[in-house]
Amino acid sequence: MHVPDISLKGKVAIVTGAGGGIGRAIALAYASVGAHLVIADKIAQRCEEVAGRIDELDGEAFAVPCDVTDTDQVRAMVDSARAHFGRIDILVNNAGGVVAKAFKDQSEHAWQRIIDLNLMSMLATTSATIPHLIEGGNGGAIINISSIEGSRAAPNFAVYGACKAGMLNFTRSMALELAEYGIRVNAIAPDYTITPGLRGNVKGPVDPASWWQPSEEHLAATARRIPLGRPGLDTECGNVAVFLASGMSEYVTGTVIPVDGGSWASSGWLRNRAGQWTLTGDL
Ligand SMILES: NC(=O)c1ccc[n+]([C@@H]2O[C@H](COP(=O)([O-])OP(=O)(O)OC[C@H]3O[C@@H](n4cnc5c(N)ncnc54)[C@H](O)[C@@H]3O)[C@@H](O)[C@H]2O)c1
Repeated sequence: MHVPDISLKGKVAIVTGAGGGIGRAIALAYASVGAHLVIADKIAQRCEEVAGRIDELDGEAFAVPCDVTDTDQVRAMVDSARAHFGRIDILVNNAGGVVAKAFKDQSEHAWQRIIDLNLMSMLATTSATIPHLIEGGNGGAIINISSIEGSRAAPNFAVYGACKAGMLNFTRSMALELAEYGIRVNAIAPDYTITPGLRGNVKGPVDPASWWQPSEEHLAATARRIPLGRPGLDTECGNVAVFLASGMSEYVTGTVIPVDGGSWASSGWLRNRAGQWTLTGDL
């Protein structure tokens, strides 16, 4: 009897933006179940830190500094990954992010930068990787890190939200186009997850201990909004990314898994200070 398991032993995974936050957690989670990692991040120092960490855990990682908004760099990164490991099985399109600003105050240049990072990069990495997945003949998995902002309104994040919504529909279309090759395409939609990017710390130190941590007051306010009562952890996206890459999800494609503590389900419901659910704003 065929019994699928969670192991990624011997599989090769490219993770973009793997130098920090959710991408780093996904890379470490993959390494923990036996995958070989291609750490693709625009900050070389971060690539080295994560590759070194995987090395310490007796895993295998290849650090490839790469700005995913540069199509030439993306193609070179994917080709070097294939040359290094001899195969590619998994692609995680994770690099992304944004700084809050009202759309009416944003320049065309700013829209373009957000689109390049959050949408165009996914097209470039996917396009560069598909031929290797098909040629490998072993199927494969593409996992796109979208956001809850791809499904709900995103004031001050309008262009970002449009990109994240685009990721979700691209996920569905690719699931159909690539099904005949056994390549599954799915998305993860996190809500508020504690990472360095949350406070614009993208250029900051690589030591996770120095990343921004929320205050008690902030956590209490968040707990009223998120049904499970706290922000998400990057490792929780890592767990779901392992599931979506492994044989445990072999019949799952074209879908999105919210990793959001129930935020999407709550859709406007909040807990007041007494812990009761309210729609009235009576906090
Ligand atoms: N943290 C959240 O609350 C949250 C919520 C929903 C969705 N997301 C999504 O999850 C993904 C990861 O977010 P995060 O919070 O971990 O971000 P982060 O800023 O903490 O880490 C992002 C990593 O990507 C790298 N990166 C940035 N631009 C890059 C580029 N052009 N090329 C290559 N690497 C680049 C950075 O160096 C960094 O290491 C993003 O797509 C983000 O939109 C995050």
